[in-house]
Amino acid sequence: MEIYAHRGSSGTHPENTITAFTEAAHLAIHGVEFDVHLTKDGELVVIHDERIDRTSNGTGYVKDMTLAKLKTFDFGSWFSPDFTGQTIPTLHEVLQLFTETHHHLNIELKSDIFPYEGMVEKVLAIVSEMGLDSRVVLSSFDHEAIRTVKQLAPHLETAALFMEVLVEPLDYMRAIPADALHLFFPTALRPSIQQVLESGTPVRTFTVNEAQYAQALQDVGVSAIFTDFPEKMMIYLNEKS
Ligand code: G3P
Ligand code: CA
Repeated sequence: MEIYAHRGSSGTHPENTITAFTEAAHLAIHGVEFDVHLTKDGELVVIHDERIDRTSNGTGYVKDMTLAKLKTFDFGSWFSPDFTGQTIPTLHEVLQLFTETHHHLNIELKSDIFPYEGMVEKVLAIVSEMGLDSRVVLSSFDHEAIRTVKQLAPHLETAALFMEVLVEPLDYMRAIPADALHLFFPTALRPSIQQVLESGTPVRTFTVNEAQYAQALQDVGVSAIFTDFPEKMMIYLNEKS
């Protein structure tokens, strides 16, 4: 079962920051996951929430601020004073950390609340310019965005994100279309997911921070976990095998 660092190594470092991704880039794990929003001036930035309040010393929506304004805030000290000085990274800055590594890169398009017009096109352009087409999977809870990705760049891997328990998941995936399922991990243990696993479709699950759940997911044949503690999970799964 593969391991992805969720928002970088976010259990030990402030999520979605350069220090969290630098830590993940040094680990012998399969991949890394991060979240993308669009600023007021059309720049792609890596942050989970629509607002900066929870993970910075600022307040307000990403969509209402320019990149220059966003860069004035501290995105490390909320987590620990040891990380004071971390700033919001651009998508380009994050991808640059991984150009020389082997990691699979899961870019989550956070357009499910605000539709961020033009975001898909900007993400596709940057991925292509950096020669990363074969190393990315674009995921979203916004399945319209996934459909747009497939229309514009059919060769890119896509994944549909779900929190819900699903019925006939393969039919829905074909309708989007999506290549992989990214599931809230308890739903991956439901019988309907067995048909997806048997079809050879990648099923990746979030957010798995406890060994007992990782074990249960491995036992049913899930492809991967997203975890905030990738190093700890790597040690645990290596010891078990
Ligand atoms: O991409 C997997 C997972 O990150 C989706 O949920 O809220 O952590 O972005 P969230
Ligand atoms: Ca995410």
